[in-house]
Amino acid sequence: MNSKTVLITGTSSGFGRLLVPEFLRDGWTVIATLRDAEQRAEIFKQELASASDRLFLFALDVTDEKDRQAAAEFIDEHFEGRLDCLINNAGYGLFGAAEDLAEEQVREQMEVNFFGLVLLTQRLLPPIRRAQGRIINVSSVLGYSAMPLASLYCASKFAVEGFSESLYHELKAHGVQVALVEPGGFRTSFMDKQAWGEYSFEPTSAYREQTEAYRRFREKRTTGEGVSPAPVIQAVMRLAQTKKMPLRVRCGKDAKGVYAAKRLLPERLHTALFTKVYDKLFARVDEKKA
Ligand SMILES: NC(=O)c1ccc[n+]([C@@H]2O[C@H](COP(=O)([O-])OP(=O)(O)OC[C@H]3O[C@@H](n4cnc5c(N)ncnc54)[C@H](OP(=O)(O)O)[C@@H]3O)[C@@H](O)[C@H]2O)c1
Repeated sequence: MNSKTVLITGTSSGFGRLLVPEFLRDGWTVIATLRDAEQRAEIFKQELASASDRLFLFALDVTDEKDRQAAAEFIDEHFEGRLDCLINNAGYGLFGAAEDLAEEQVREQMEVNFFGLVLLTQRLLPPIRRAQGRIINVSSVLGYSAMPLASLYCASKFAVEGFSESLYHELKAHGVQVALVEPGGFRTSFMDKQAWGEYSFEPTSAYREQTEAYRRFREKRTTGEGVSPAPVIQAVMRLAQTKKMPLRVRCGKDAKGVYAAKRLLPERLHTALFTKVYDKLFARVDEKKA
């Protein structure tokens, strides 16, 4: 039986929620963290009934220093200050043209997706180092290749990529491994929880037409059955078990296609190709009208 401990952020829905039973099934002890303390016993009713001795539910908003500190103390107290695996999964998408975002929205996107991840990682590095453990950061294909009307989400994930790539090398000498998971589009609660710019759909917005087209594009891709999140769950489980983690793992045909295009095409050709694609997708705006 595996006696290792994993802490996962953002387990109320989506990838985080699905990872909890997978790790329990593999024999891990799981610290499932989520913001909403009231929901948690209900969400994990089944798991609590079958593996209550290995499942710890912990209230953690990644943007809250008190919560981050409490998580570190919890590990010191209950796990002899050792953590085998940290999965930084919590995050959400802010969409809409940069000009249409309120300052508070810009800051919040970075607080959750980037600063929260960085500061929690910092807090938990002593127990991870002691265990010679690993860190798996959930990024996105948009952390590798940016698209319009998603500038802040892309920026937050590009930041996660830079942070993680640097840590990959920095922590090697300490026996700590770091990996990035870059999913394409998968069926989770991501669409329900996404945010749009405060001014995105105002009649005065110069980007309204583009934003409407982008919203339709996102809805079309995620309504109906959507793509099963199973490949992301499998990829994370493989990373947690493999002896030597690669720095990056891409999940989904879309993510792999976007990756191949950026990697194989010369930059000018790649930019020209994606300009064409985005012009077609997100309705060109008549310059005079704009
Ligand atoms: N689904 C996709 O297509 C896709 C593609 C690429 C990357 N991703 C990334 O995958 C990760 C997981 O997303 P998902 O697709 O599973 O979406 P999801 O179902 O919306 O799950 C996101 C989780 O993050 C949590 N969260 C948000 N803000 C938080 C905060 N301040 N502190 C703690 N937890 C917080 C949410 O909790 P609450 O319930 O409290 O809001 C929820 O549990 C995200 O980092 C996302 O950017 C998703």
